[in-house]
Amino acid sequence: MCGIVGYLGSAEASPIVLEGLRKLEYRGYDSAGIATISDGGIRMLRAQGKLVNLEQRLKEQPLIGTRAIGHTRWATHGRPSEINAHPHKAGQIVVVHNGIIENYLELKQMLQHKGHNFSSDTDTEIIAHLIEEHFKQGGGFELAVRHALNEVRGAYAIAVLCEAEPDLLIAAKHGSPLVVGRGADEYFVASDIPAMLAHTRQMIFLEDGEMVIFAPQGLRFCDLAGTTLEKEEKTITWSPLMAEKGGYKHFMLKEIYEQPRAIADTIAGRLRENEGDIYLGDLKLNTQQLAGFEKIFIVACGTSWHAALVGKFYLEKLCRIPVEVDIASEFRYRDPIVNAKTLILVISQSGETADTLAALREAHGKGGKVLCICNVVDSSIARESDGVIYTHAGPEIGVASTKAFTTQLVALLLFALRLGRARNSLSADECRQKMQALVTLPRLLESCLELDGAIEKIARELSAARDFLYLGRGNQYPIALEGALKLKEISYIHAEGYPAGEMKHGPIALIDEQLPVVVIVPDNATFDKVVSNMEEVRARGGRVIVVTSGQGCRLETACESLFCLPEADDDLMPILTSIPMQLLAYHVAVYKGTDVDQPRNLAKSVTVE
Ligand code: G6P
Repeated sequence: MCGIVGYLGSAEASPIVLEGLRKLEYRGYDSAGIATISDGGIRMLRAQGKLVNLEQRLKEQPLIGTRAIGHTRWATHGRPSEINAHPHKAGQIVVVHNGIIENYLELKQMLQHKGHNFSSDTDTEIIAHLIEEHFKQGGGFELAVRHALNEVRGAYAIAVLCEAEPDLLIAAKHGSPLVVGRGADEYFVASDIPAMLAHTRQMIFLEDGEMVIFAPQGLRFCDLAGTTLEKEEKTITWSPLMAEKGGYKHFMLKEIYEQPRAIADTIAGRLRENEGDIYLGDLKLNTQQLAGFEKIFIVACGTSWHAALVGKFYLEKLCRIPVEVDIASEFRYRDPIVNAKTLILVISQSGETADTLAALREAHGKGGKVLCICNVVDSSIARESDGVIYTHAGPEIGVASTKAFTTQLVALLLFALRLGRARNSLSADECRQKMQALVTLPRLLESCLELDGAIEKIARELSAARDFLYLGRGNQYPIALEGALKLKEISYIHAEGYPAGEMKHGPIALIDEQLPVVVIVPDNATFDKVVSNMEEVRARGGRVIVVTSGQGCRLETACESLFCLPEADDDLMPILTSIPMQLLAYHVAVYKGTDVDQPRNLAKSVTVE
């Protein structure tokens, strides 16, 4: 996730674009850049790190011009550095981009054959060269952009300038957001509304496959075939703070709703349908090395540790390799048995958690190979690992992890499929079946999110409870733990997650008419067993809230509330059941009036041991 801003008008453009980027820093902040265009040509400034670094550079070397594009980056391809910062320039063309170009390797090879030289590791630079290549063939700037966009696959929102046609600014989108703002004799384009709110409330929302051509005399919208489109203008009434949260009351809710998109981004470009295999670009371990491991440790903290517990199910089932899961702060002090044939998979959203970093060093010190699953490019954990599987969740602002967790589960499943293929425990056909299931995930998650209203309804009454119990079995037990953790983190209600079958050995003593018990019981091999555990709760007067699928949707009369999820492959079910856990915790906390995005005593990234 990155932020882009464009301006065309009569004022000096770079301060306006810089101000807009500041409102988009929540979308990423590892580097930033601006390009302006005037009769003297394109001028560009870029800086690694937060926006203040770019601001400082602009003070030293102001960029003159009344047309500009800018970018604040959250790295996906290529580490955060000035070279990889946007804008990217090729010949007469300069581009800013938010998204991921999936076929960038083949396009790069094609362009290299034609003599193009690349200076960055980004997928974005390919777009600049591709437009430049078409521009050289004649037909003008607009046609060159359309031709290029018809060749790229993946997600993009772009803004482009061309030295030969300095009066124009062109923007387009497919899969990544882009909004146009219309002021009095000036125009704006940005990834999100807040970037423009100080100047205009008149907005036009682009749909996928749409393009806009800004010129001093006006705007023209068209599709990628060049057909002119009529677009409706809307007046935005949001307050600036509401706008940064995309109209959601809290970042956490926004991030919950971003999950279908975040998961689609995490899968994008990684499924190799023809080969029946998974492509993980930064893994840096070949098939032979992967096949040689005899044991795996998965090591993490907090929510990432819950992802690790689900990962054990994926890896043992699909790869037939023994897996141990450790809490990072425990791992390093128990003298774990690690050697060159041991793979240590560390999971960390931030890539900076001190306990996890220490565990990684301990594993390296004992001669193990370390891979990490991480959401932040070039973070300490990513840098020190032998290979990385990046989740593409985008920056997570809410302290309680949501989209970072579900994208970790997707990354774990992708890795299990890759390792299963390397070890031959999984056939190409079996892998293809899982891929087909994976591509349906964003749609399945959309229907889980439809439960939001019904969950909100029960949350008010449940917010008065003093304790909660969460029950799950097999790959749903970690989700019971995660549901309980989410609730206690943001509502401060005491909650415990338990394996459903283990309840009778202790926690059953807690059950009375006051205790809400959330039972996660999808329609799978242990369905009947978990239903029996649920009956044990009912028999003692407990308040049963069921999250289920398939035949479980008939349990309505046997519980206080029931939430029915779509049916899915059992490996995907923990990702689906996570959604009602997040929504329940969120709404209970909202009723309790706690600080949902910044709960007391917690930190997003814990860099002390
Ligand atoms: C903190 C956060 C948790 C997170 C844990 C691990 O405690 O509050 O939400 O799960 O750190 O963070 P990591 O960045 O390593 O996944």
